[in-house]
Amino acid sequence: MRITGTTRLAGIMGWPVTHSRSPVLHSFWLDETGIDGAYLPLPVRPQHIEQALRSLPILGFRGCNLTVPHKRAAFSVVDRVEPLARRIGAINTIVIGPDGSIEGRNTDAFGFRENLLDMVPDWSPRAGPAVILGAGGAARAIVAALADAGVAEIRIVNRTLDRAASLAHDLSTPKVTISISSWDEVDTALRDAGLLVNATSLGMAGEPALMLDLSSLPPATPVVDIVYVPLETDLLAAARRRGHPVVDGLGMLLHQGRPGFEAWFGAPVRVTPKLRDVILATLAAAQ
Ligand code: ATR
Repeated sequence: MRITGTTRLAGIMGWPVTHSRSPVLHSFWLDETGIDGAYLPLPVRPQHIEQALRSLPILGFRGCNLTVPHKRAAFSVVDRVEPLARRIGAINTIVIGPDGSIEGRNTDAFGFRENLLDMVPDWSPRAGPAVILGAGGAARAIVAALADAGVAEIRIVNRTLDRAASLAHDLSTPKVTISISSWDEVDTALRDAGLLVNATSLGMAGEPALMLDLSSLPPATPVVDIVYVPLETDLLAAARRRGHPVVDGLGMLLHQGRPGFEAWFGAPVRVTPKLRDVILATLAAAQ
């Protein structure tokens, strides 16, 4: 990559930001497309997020991604919030308009949907109720994606029921029923499920394991994990042994970057096996 006087600029704001794989992801696509652009890590302390976002148009940036802890704080700074990001309650992508206005979007729902379609092309929203484990930020994006795809019933299983209830309240539409359950009721929730998604941090390296008995899940039901360190979680290993189609968490991370790249740099990009290998190598190097 060579920086020139016309290089288009984007980046990721986070605190800390050093763990982010997004600079490697976007640099891969910039190299692949040959676009004169750069994507930078932008370490921004929580108390500086407003100044940092307001500086983007002044400095000529096309936009940026947001990661922890800025995804909610950005709501009070941006000029416009796309309706989907408002429903999910988090902004992960900023796009600067030609007039210098700052728009907040959320691309996690897109990332989840594209990855699912990529990995299990024959999954149908009519396959049956979707069971989502978790009610945090990731779960909210996944519920929005599934509701918009036409899933008629979504069952949330979460440790903190209040959190599940507020998710159900915020993301219900006339076309989708969202129910909530505790972990004690998970076997019943799985019984006729058409999709199972782990959207908790359980099973991630350094976190407690996710111990789930899959025996009540119908055999053809796909099992998705958003965890990508390790890539093959205990949940996915157990699902694979039982013959379920399985989807790991790396693809969602990669696909969620596509809309931002397209908006800032003006070209569509794809998630390829080579890209997966490049990101997996950076994850392995960090172990
Ligand atoms: P993210 O933005 O990645 O979704 P989050 O908002 O912190 O992260 O959500 C983490 C999810 O993992 C939540 O559903 C959380 O359950 P609670 O809402 O009850 O906190 C779930 N989770 C994390 N650790 C857990 C544990 N030890 N047992 C059960 N659930 C856990």
